[in-house]
Amino acid sequence: MLHPEESLTRVLDESRQGESYVNQLPAGPSPKKFYMESYGCQMNFADSEVIASILTAEGFGPVRHWANADLILLNTCAIREKAEQTVRTRLQLFREAKRERPGLLIGLLGCMAERLKSQLLEEELLVDIVVGPDAYRSLPLLIQEAESGQKAVNVLLSREETYADIAPVRLEGNGINAYISIMRGCDNMCSFCVVPFTRGRERSRDTRSILQECRSLFQEGYREVTLLGQNVDSYMYEPSGTEQTPGTAGKTVSFAGLLDQVARISSQLRVRFSTSHPKDLSDDVLFTMARHENICKNIHLPVQSGSSRILQLMNRTYNREWYQSRLKRIRDVLPECGLSTDIIAGFCSESEEEHRQTLSLMEESGFDMSYMFCYSERPGTLAARRYRDDITDEVKKRRLGEIVSLQNRLSLESNRRDIGKSFQVLVEGDSRKSQLDWKGRNSQNKVVVFPKQGKPCRKGEYVNTVITGCTQTALLGSIV
Ligand code: SAH
Ligand code: SF4
Ligand code: F3S
Repeated sequence: MLHPEESLTRVLDESRQGESYVNQLPAGPSPKKFYMESYGCQMNFADSEVIASILTAEGFGPVRHWANADLILLNTCAIREKAEQTVRTRLQLFREAKRERPGLLIGLLGCMAERLKSQLLEEELLVDIVVGPDAYRSLPLLIQEAESGQKAVNVLLSREETYADIAPVRLEGNGINAYISIMRGCDNMCSFCVVPFTRGRERSRDTRSILQECRSLFQEGYREVTLLGQNVDSYMYEPSGTEQTPGTAGKTVSFAGLLDQVARISSQLRVRFSTSHPKDLSDDVLFTMARHENICKNIHLPVQSGSSRILQLMNRTYNREWYQSRLKRIRDVLPECGLSTDIIAGFCSESEEEHRQTLSLMEESGFDMSYMFCYSERPGTLAARRYRDDITDEVKKRRLGEIVSLQNRLSLESNRRDIGKSFQVLVEGDSRKSQLDWKGRNSQNKVVVFPKQGKPCRKGEYVNTVITGCTQTALLGSIV
C-alpha cells in the first residue's frame, strides 16, 4: 500500500526496535531524546527511517512518548488539506507543552514543511525547525541552531539527493517487510497534485545501493521488500564510468532491469513495488514480473477518474481507453495479477455523467482494492490556478460514498472468487483479532488469516493455504 493515510500516526516505538539498534546508541550519559510522528505515504515513512538514522548517529535516542522528548519531530504530508489540518491540531498540543518546557524543540519536516516554508515560523505554532524532504542531512546543524535560540529552516530541494548512503534505522516494523525508496521527486505535474512542489525533480537512486540494502535486509531475515517511488516505471539510473560492478559500468538500468536484479537476490525474497503510472507501465516490467515467481503479482495503477475529459484536465496524459488497454495487457501477461487503484471524487467541473463513468470503469476493471478521496484543492497546483473547485463538499462526499460502496462490493466479489483456491502466504505475525490465528499476505497482496492449529510455523515463513471463506477485507483459510 503506497498511500497517504492522513490519520495514520506512527510513533517510533522503543520497545519494538530490535536489539542491534539499541546497542548502537552511544554509552555514557543518557542521550538526548527525540520523538517522531510520521504522516502521509510510505515514502515519507521511509524518510523517517533515514531521519532516525541521521539522528542516532548524532547521539539522539528515540522515545515512545512525546512527554519524554527533548525534540519533537513531525514528518508531514501536504497531499490534501485534511492532512495538514491534522498536523496543525498536533502542533497546538505541542505548543502547550512548550509553554511549560521552553527548552523543548519542535521540528516540522516533510512535505508540509516544504510547501509552507518559513511561513510556518510566523504562525503562532511555536515551531523551531522547518526542514524539507531533501534537507535532512542538515538536521543536526539545524538542531544546534535551534538550541541556541534561532529559528532554523532548510527547505532547499535538490536534483541529486537520494540518501543512498544512509542505512535507514528500521524503528518500527515486523522484521519481515521493508520499504525501500528507489527514487525521489516527481516530474509529472498532474494538475491536482502538490508532490512535484514538495518533493522536487525526479531522480533515481544508485542501483548498487538499492541492491546492497535489499541483500542485507534479506540476510537480517526480511522476506519482502517494496520498492517505492511516485512513478517507479520511470526509474532510470546511469552508473558513472568509474563504477566497478563488472559488466554494468555505463549501462543504464531501467525499472524492469532493477526489478530483475532485486528478484535474483533470492527466490525467498518477495519483491513488490509502488506506484506505477498508467502512461509508463511497460511490457518489459510485466514480462519481468512473469519471469520471477518472487515478484508479487499485484499492480497498483492509479486511474483517478473514468472520464477522459477529466483525465485530460488532470493532466494524466492518458484517457479511459488507454487505461483499459493497459489493464487488458496486464491480464493477458499476468492472468493472476491483483489490481488496485486510486480515485478522486469531484474534481473541478466533474459532471454526474463523468462521475458515473468512474463507477462504470471501476465495475469493468473489477479492482480488488482502491484508495478513494474527495478532491482537495492545493494552493499553487495547476488545477488551483486554472480551474474552479466548483463541486460542493456535499456532492463530493455523496460521489465518494457511491465510489466507496461500489469498491466494497467489488472487493467482496474479488475475495469470494478466491474461495477454493490455494495460495502461498508469507506469515507476517498474529492476526489482528486473535492470537490463535496467523496473518500473512498472498502474492496478490490480499491478507490471508488462518488458524495456527498447533502446526509449527514461524513469522517470515512461507506456507501454503487453501481459502475456505472471506470477509470484504481478508481471505480466511487453513494451512495445507
Ligand atoms: N504518484 C502516485 C500517487 C501520489 S499521491 C500516482 O501518481 O499515482 C496518492 C494519491 O492521492 C493520488 O493517486 C491521488 O488519488 C490522491 N491525491 C493526490 N492529490 C490529491 C488532491 N489534491 N485531492 C485529492 N486526492 C489527491
Ligand atoms: Fe502527483 Fe501525478 Fe506525480 Fe503521482 S504522478 S506524485 S499524482 S504529480
Ligand atoms: Fe507523500 Fe504526502 Fe508528500 S503523499 S510525497 S507525504 S505530500
